[in-house]
Amino acid sequence: MTSRKPTEELEHEHRIIQQVVGGMAVLIEKLESGKGIDAAVLTDLFEFMQTFGDRCHHGKEEIYLFKLLEKKGVPVSGCPLAVLLHEHEKGRSLMADLKLTSETYIRTPGAGREALIGTLRRLIELYPSHIWKEDYLLFPMADKLLSDTEQEELSARFEQHESEIGIDVHHGFEQLAGRLLEMICGESSTCHVA
Ligand SMILES: [Fe+2]
Ligand SMILES: [Fe+2]
Repeated sequence: MTSRKPTEELEHEHRIIQQVVGGMAVLIEKLESGKGIDAAVLTDLFEFMQTFGDRCHHGKEEIYLFKLLEKKGVPVSGCPLAVLLHEHEKGRSLMADLKLTSETYIRTPGAGREALIGTLRRLIELYPSHIWKEDYLLFPMADKLLSDTEQEELSARFEQHESEIGIDVHHGFEQLAGRLLEMICGESSTCHVA
């Protein structure tokens, strides 16, 4: 049970995702300087982005928040919903690329390095601007449009969505993000999950 508004919960998830995206920039630096990346880092990164970033987070947005906003009169074919939905699709396509390029890199690092760098770069290009549009355009609009009762109903839908994915999925993936950043950045780094 959370006392956060649904938009605050999504914003909190954005901060966790942003830190993992920051970790991707560190991975690119390592790959470009010829350092190796452990297979566990790449499989955990994919699991985080796929299950937490897409199924859990984008799922809550698309299945519940966007649908509710549509019911309140926000046009699904216009800005900002159409743009955000298109970016979610782009993110899913990049998830498929991440899986493929990670598997190739794990098998043959020399041959897979450039393609993996390219996928990580495209993810870094996509996420910050997508998150910005939601934090500064979509969520303030949602907070104006939704009544207290609608916000409470949305929170309940979010909880239900998380429980369908798995028990305590949120806490588990926050911990995974922390472990992932420790693996990527090391103990002395500043890129830890707060
Ligand atoms: Fe989104
Ligand atoms: Fe989001």
